[in-house]
Amino acid sequence: MSLQLNRSEFGNPQNRGNVLSRQEAHILFYEWVKNERLQLHMKQVAHLMKCWAAEKEGLDETEQWKWEMAGLLHDADWDQWPEHHCKKIIEELESRNIDPEIIHAIASHGPNHFGVEPLTRMDQMLYAFDELSGLIHAYSLMRPEGYAGMELKGVKKRFREKSFAAGVNREEVLDAMSRAQLELDTIIQFIMERQAEVK
Ligand SMILES: [Fe+2]
Ligand SMILES: [Fe+2]
Repeated sequence: MSLQLNRSEFGNPQNRGNVLSRQEAHILFYEWVKNERLQLHMKQVAHLMKCWAAEKEGLDETEQWKWEMAGLLHDADWDQWPEHHCKKIIEELESRNIDPEIIHAIASHGPNHFGVEPLTRMDQMLYAFDELSGLIHAYSLMRPEGYAGMELKGVKKRFREKSFAAGVNREEVLDAMSRAQLELDTIIQFIMERQAEVK
């Protein structure tokens, strides 16, 4: 099964600045995604994207919502149409005249799978957070205290243990770090501190 998108242009430049309202995004989210684990993953990534946009990139609330929206909807079609991931959500957002920046971020969240290079900061950070967020959440689930008291060295130990959260491709995570020009430790620390807030 190939998920290659075979194109590099997404959306229409005339739609710059167009976003879904929070309510519209949530309606789409709950209509398309029924799996609660996947819902949580998408909410976690959305939260990380928003926090990063605000705290590290110093972006205003309008921009923060674009980052958050990309995170919230990046796997929207995975639950019901995995063989069309992420083609279906891209086409949906294009038909709704959404900002191409958001659509490009979603299209490039797995360059090895979709064949689209992460170019913007939004693209790079979505790719950087996606898999690592899942690994850290899996770690929280096996700890009696969850996220409380979690330490960087514990996460790194799990990261090196290839059998743990085996679906998380370590090479892709490292590729994402180098594209974003960030240290693995920095991103792990950021995720550990913010992700516990998402329920
Ligand atoms: Fe995905
Ligand atoms: Fe994801």
